[in-house]
Amino acid sequence: MRTLTLRRDQTAQGPLILVNPSHPLRPAPPPELTAPDSRFPDILLERRTAGLLTACIRAAGGTEDIVPVSGWRSRGEQQSIWDSAWANRGEDFTCRYVALPGCSEHQTGLAIDLGKRAERVDFLCPDFPDQGGCGAFRRLAARYGFILRYRKEKEAVTGIGAEPWHFRYVGVPHAALMEERGLCLEEYGGFLRTGPKRRVLSNGRRVEVFWLACPGESVEVELPEGCCQISGDNDGGFILTVWEAPA
Ligand code: DAL
Ligand code: ZN
Repeated sequence: MRTLTLRRDQTAQGPLILVNPSHPLRPAPPPELTAPDSRFPDILLERRTAGLLTACIRAAGGTEDIVPVSGWRSRGEQQSIWDSAWANRGEDFTCRYVALPGCSEHQTGLAIDLGKRAERVDFLCPDFPDQGGCGAFRRLAARYGFILRYRKEKEAVTGIGAEPWHFRYVGVPHAALMEERGLCLEEYGGFLRTGPKRRVLSNGRRVEVFWLACPGESVEVELPEGCCQISGDNDGGFILTVWEAPA
C-alpha cells in the first residue's frame, strides 16, 4: 500500500470533473491540447481525449463520414458563442444549447461536438444521425471512454437540451458504469457516494471505482500497488479508479 495526500484544489481537475452552472470551472492547470484530426488543425482536444477519439472514429469506420465541429474553447470563445447565439437565435435556444461561459465542459478539452460530413454543418447543432459511421461511433463510444453527455431523457437533470452530437471523455470504466446504469454525469457522483463499485472490463481486467470526500484542505488515501487514476469531481471530492494488477 502507499499513502497519498490529495489537496482540495486538485478536486478541480481530472477527466471526471463535473462542469455545469452549479459546478463552474475553477482554476486548474491548462490542458495539453492537440488536434485529433489533422484536416481540422484548429479543433483541439486534451491529448489523451484526442487519441481515443481518433481511435474510436477509426474503429467505427467513420473517418470519412464524421467531422469534428467544436472541441476545446477558451472562456472568451464560449462567451462569444453565447453572445452570438443570443443575438442570432434568441434566449430560449441559447439557454438550451449553449453552456454559460465558465460552465462549459468544452473549456476542459474533454468534450467534442461531432457532425456528419456535409457541405454545410451547423456549428451549434450539427447533424449526427444514428446511421452509418456516426451511428457506429455512438455505439462504440463507451468502449473508448466517451459518454453521450446530454440525452433527451436527462434534460431536466443536465439543464441542457438533447445534444446527439456532444461527447465527453470520462474514461472506460466510468463510461461503462454510466451507460449500464443509465446515469448522466450529474448523477454519477451520487451513485459512487453509495459505496465502491467493481466491474470487469471487456478486456477481462477488474477495476474498482470509489469516491473520496475532501472536506478540509487535504485528504490522505491509502492505495494498493498497481495502476490507479485519481480525478477530482469538481464537487467536493475525488473519484479513484484502481485497476487490479494483471495476474
Ligand atoms: N453545448 C454545450 C452545452 C456547451 O456549450 O458546452
Ligand atoms: Zn458540445
